[in-house]
Amino acid sequence: MLVSGKELLDKAHKEGYAVGAFNVNTMEQCQAIIAAAEETRSPVIIQASQGGLKYAGVKMISAMVKALAEDTDIPVALHLDHGTDFKQIMLCLRHGFTSVMIDASKLPLQGNIDTTKKVCEIAHAIGVSVEAEIGKIGGTEDDVTVSEREATFTDPDEAEKLVSETGIDSLAIAIGTAHGPYKGEPKLDFDRLELIKKRLNMPIVLHGSSGVPETSIRKAVSLGVNKINIDTDIRLSFSAAVRDFVDKNDAYDPRKIITPARDAMKETIKAKMIMFGSAGKA
Ligand code: G3H
Ligand code: 13P
Ligand code: ZN
Repeated sequence: MLVSGKELLDKAHKEGYAVGAFNVNTMEQCQAIIAAAEETRSPVIIQASQGGLKYAGVKMISAMVKALAEDTDIPVALHLDHGTDFKQIMLCLRHGFTSVMIDASKLPLQGNIDTTKKVCEIAHAIGVSVEAEIGKIGGTEDDVTVSEREATFTDPDEAEKLVSETGIDSLAIAIGTAHGPYKGEPKLDFDRLELIKKRLNMPIVLHGSSGVPETSIRKAVSLGVNKINIDTDIRLSFSAAVRDFVDKNDAYDPRKIITPARDAMKETIKAKMIMFGSAGKA
């Protein structure tokens, strides 16, 4: 069943676990996520980035997720990941997304507040949840030093101001994770996370969570992270399985090539759900 992001994340915040938010571009990714959620009895967020929507089309993504959500008793939220374009956010609302992220984190604080507030007013009026970001979660490919990255970490005072002036439902924070595959082991600023959680007492979101060691993920969840974004690890499972199958078989039927990849993605997602503590919560 399709539910709002707020419904999933408020429960996770209250009970102390995190809901996985998995990026999709294709039907098989959507199926793998729902199958993993059913097998582990996990609530789940399926999300599409602006790039994902451009690839598959907003209509196609929402139709696929709604079709799967209709046929399961697992609570599923459909979320826009890193929305930066106001019109596209409106398009997602029109197509039945139950949660949107407004990522105005590149703007100065007041610009971030003004932009986020405008989205909250509209989305909340129709029962759609809003995630915002403060601090900058970059990419692992960004050419920045550790100290440069640390300078972009979330400031707790700014976070408090953004939350109180906008009424967002969840907040993405920068504490040392980055999008894409890591070269070394990411070091997370747990003290900052703990402080922000204490001060805001609301659902906190961790982006760039692929490749973060299990002990760090579990610690982040214990300190109050309630939504964990995963894209890269699913891409890696998909591509490894396709490569392996094509190397070993003289294959030309897409169904034969993609089936092992869909199974591999499902296993990766199941392992994340157990790690995040969402298994058994649906
Ligand atoms: O946050 C980034 C996600 O991994 C989505 O990536 O923009 O290539 O679809 P994408
Ligand atoms: P990864 O690249 O670590 O999977 O991060 C995904 C993400 O944060 C999507 O918003
Ligand atoms: Zn992200």
